[in-house]
Amino acid sequence: MKILVLNGPNLNLLGEREPEIYGKDSFEELGRKIEGWAKELGMVVDIRQSNHEGDLVDAIQEARTWASGIVLNAGALTHSSYALRDVIAAVKIPVVEVHLSNVFAREEFRKRSIISPVCIGQISGFGHLSYHLALQALRELGLRRLTVV
Ligand code: DQA
Repeated sequence: MKILVLNGPNLNLLGEREPEIYGKDSFEELGRKIEGWAKELGMVVDIRQSNHEGDLVDAIQEARTWASGIVLNAGALTHSSYALRDVIAAVKIPVVEVHLSNVFAREEFRKRSIISPVCIGQISGFGHLSYHLALQALRELGLRRLTVV
């Protein structure tokens, strides 16, 4: 099971960016944890990050040729990007929206997600664990689909 783990603007600054909210670990450290969890779950992950909306749209379009699921932390684009919303709806790959912080416990603008309605679910507020939970959800769904067929 191949999964795209896609990260949007400013997530490359993890560790130095508002550590009281996003934690002290770097993006690379988070990546290593995700690799480990994926291995345990029997999944293969391709972890990417871009600060550019178009790159994220391209990555999601390309994923339709190889990925069984997407874990997406779109950063601030969560709250503003209609292009991301449309590409998620277009590709028909299950996308789990993740956030390190609890977006509902923060500023008003973070409570609205443009992408939630086209994602299969949202996991918010568990730090790095949000990514682990998202991988687990995709694996469970994949296995269930296999059992049904
Ligand atoms: C975030 C929450 C967003 O509101 C914010 O813009 C981010 C990170 C999170 O992981 O908690 O960049 O997606």
